[in-house]
Amino acid sequence: SDTVTLGIFGGGTVGGGIVEILTKKRSHFKLLTGKDIVVRKICVRDATKSRDFELPDGCEIVTSYDDILDDETIDYAVEVMGGTTDAKDVVMSALRKGKSVVTANKALIAKDLAEIEGVLASLGAEDAGAQFRYEAAVCGGIPIIRSMQGDFVGANVKLMSGIINGCTNFMLTAMDRDGKSYEDALSQASDLGYAEADPTLDVGGFDARSKLKILMRLAYGMDVDEDEISCRGITELTKIDFEYAKTLGGTIKLLGVAALNDDGSKVSAFVSPCYVTNADPLSSVSGATNAIEVVSDNLVSSIYIGQGAGRYPTANSCVNDIVSLARGDSTPLPFNPKSDMKFANNYESVFF
Ligand code: NAP
Ligand code: HSE
Repeated sequence: SDTVTLGIFGGGTVGGGIVEILTKKRSHFKLLTGKDIVVRKICVRDATKSRDFELPDGCEIVTSYDDILDDETIDYAVEVMGGTTDAKDVVMSALRKGKSVVTANKALIAKDLAEIEGVLASLGAEDAGAQFRYEAAVCGGIPIIRSMQGDFVGANVKLMSGIINGCTNFMLTAMDRDGKSYEDALSQASDLGYAEADPTLDVGGFDARSKLKILMRLAYGMDVDEDEISCRGITELTKIDFEYAKTLGGTIKLLGVAALNDDGSKVSAFVSPCYVTNADPLSSVSGATNAIEVVSDNLVSSIYIGQGAGRYPTANSCVNDIVSLARGDSTPLPFNPKSDMKFANNYESVFF
């Protein structure tokens, strides 16, 4: 058919952005893919809530998952509602029904990617045409997933390190540079659409930890238990910490770091606020920007920097996935083949 129809689960920050970009670039995408990409249904919790985006012609707001899942005219399911319970059911069910799935849900991917890929494999879903894409799940608008799936396929990754949560980086910038209180900074980050529905995931470091786990799976083929990754958020930081950092000639950033040990047998990882000197390029990464350095044997140091959170950067990555599916691009390599790489919960070895 020359039409691709979408059902979107979620009409919030990201869902609204996807609808807006698809509407604005509809004819452009038609030229690119040969398909008319049409949003047919958007599933939300509360159908009476006013939306901050325009509903495309012929698009319905629904509140039952089955309105999308059972609709045989819908080709792709886009999951941008968040959470790991209903979202998992929706993703699994859509794949089982032969619908390709695009999601931005890092919590779900970090927890269940292996199971999702198992479902795809067991259904032979790839042959049937159903695919699974999740570019927006790590670092919002930065194309880090496709880079890891493509550019690093022939390289050995030694270190991945950087700012991988936009909400907390926005908060740290506001607290350090603008002297904002923690509460004001968090409230502003939420208003701007950077925070998770449960901001504990951001400020507790857990969102960054989910992303780090996904990157570790892509780089090393390992499926570490997230809870084993040492994780400290920014909740205990106070003004005095920033003052000390300033006195020492630097600032504080929440970093996610995964590093291979010298003999290449173990990976250590952590999420923690870290002192960063003013000479370090990370010190000037401000607001919701993310920055991640990938050190590898072949490519030495590759640094990715860009908007890590917010409506359009995130929606842009989802739309890229949708357009790539509509173009019939083949499934990217999901991750390095499953390995027996060991996890060493010894994050000090990363630095010392
Ligand atoms: P959001 O603004 O809170 O929007 C969530 C949407 O999902 C809302 O429209 C909500 O409906 C709907 N929804 C939630 N639970 C539902 C349920 N049980 N049944 C039906 N609809 C439900 O969230 P968001 O910021 O767009 O984030 C969505 C996903 O993208 C999350 O997985 C998040 O981690 C991920 N993500 C977000 C960003 C970002 O910068 N915001 C970046 C990368 C990834 P109502 O509107 O009726 O409440
Ligand atoms: N809350 C997340 C962040 C959204 O601030 O990074 C993007 O993943």
